[in-house]
Amino acid sequence: MRVIVLLIFWGLISGCGNREVANHKDLDENMLDLRIFHDNLGTYIRSQDLETSRWLLEGMDSTLQVIRKKFTSHRKLDDPFDVYYRKMMSGPVKDIRKALKEENFENATRAYRLLTKNCNNCHRDLEIRKEVEDWTSGERTHK
Ligand code: HEC
Repeated sequence: MRVIVLLIFWGLISGCGNREVANHKDLDENMLDLRIFHDNLGTYIRSQDLETSRWLLEGMDSTLQVIRKKFTSHRKLDDPFDVYYRKMMSGPVKDIRKALKEENFENATRAYRLLTKNCNNCHRDLEIRKEVEDWTSGERTHK
């Protein structure tokens, strides 16, 4: 059931299933996609659901790849998104992937938290008032 709901999400945000078609989206819309994957990923890592976590991680990374290809410049970015991706996102994404492969939820949680911190670091550096929350934590309060 949960997977079906997620598949509907996926359908909604990926247009006709073609990632290139999703390219008409602006950066903020792509960020909203990113957030859906990010937040759900935290929830599913927390509930130790390996299969769904893997699937959400790849969905999140493919959204990051779309952003990376498209936003080689943007009025709110000082550098191409690719520069930030390599500096802040690719490490934690790889670490989560590795941890899920090893079925190690402790490491996946640690890497997810670093990823979340880096989302926020980038927002802070660029003065974007948007706090990304850690969904592996029981204390989160979604705004
Ligand atoms: C390049 C640094 C950078 C990184 C890394 C980054 N963001 Fe963003 N984010 C931005 C910028 C810039 C905006 C503002 C976009 C705009 O207003 O056009 C933004 C806006 C957002 C928004 C608000 C969108 C809206 O319309 O309300 C969300 C949600 C968001 N980011 C989530 C995330 C998540 C989740 C991550 C980490 C997985 C992340 N961001 C990583 C730069 C970044």
